[in-house]
Amino acid sequence: MIGRLAAQRLHEIRQAFCRIPEASRSFSTALNYHIDSPDNNPDLPWEFTDTNKVKVKEIISHYPSNYKQSAVIPLLDLAQQQHGGWLPVSAMNAVAKIIEVAPIRVYEVATFYSMFNRTKVGKYHLLVCGTTPCMIRGSREIEDALLEHLGVKRNEVTKDGLFSVGEMECMGCCVNAPMITVADYSNGSEGYSYNYYEDVTPKRVLEIVEALRRGEKPPRGTQNPNRINSGPEGGNTTLLSEPKAPPCRDLDAC
Ligand code: FES
Repeated sequence: MIGRLAAQRLHEIRQAFCRIPEASRSFSTALNYHIDSPDNNPDLPWEFTDTNKVKVKEIISHYPSNYKQSAVIPLLDLAQQQHGGWLPVSAMNAVAKIIEVAPIRVYEVATFYSMFNRTKVGKYHLLVCGTTPCMIRGSREIEDALLEHLGVKRNEVTKDGLFSVGEMECMGCCVNAPMITVADYSNGSEGYSYNYYEDVTPKRVLEIVEALRRGEKPPRGTQNPNRINSGPEGGNTTLLSEPKAPPCRDLDAC
């Protein structure tokens, strides 16, 4: 009897989950699987450029020679910047060869950290912070505005290859929530930048997108004209007087 009730309950739960529309499922990053494709398979040659080979040597020199594998993250980062913002499997294999580990050791790292993209992204990869403080302050509306304006879904690239929109978890800038980051891969690893735009609104993010499209560099940081950096809007409300000097003993009087 108990078995039948449990089976019935399981059936109800399954039915309830099946009724959840697909759109309500929210993944912060693209799914982590690899399927060989014409532009992403291990047979495609990949190596660091001559300029980046010098950087690779320099990065590896930061670690003891028997701990080369510790360079995996900076090397993947460099590979990603060189490859327009994403890591094909042959780039990961090239990194594995340089640090002399099995390729799986590199795949493990690349699939764990959400800043590594294993599918194509736009030249400007826009990352909307989706964690609670930003969500309460309107990050969902920010993302909706970006997706609608660019005509893409999350993790899709616009037809002109310029933009993609992803989600990132807390980027440590909650005081100026909501915020987005723009990873700029438009100038290779030499001109790579990763800029925060804070206190954004749906209107302001679209202005930032259009400025980037025109090749401009919109001012990063807070977009609220009434705030200086992370200070309170409208100016300080506490700690208004000069701080007292630290207490000092008169050593001569001792
Ligand atoms: S929650 Fe968005 S930066 Fe922390």
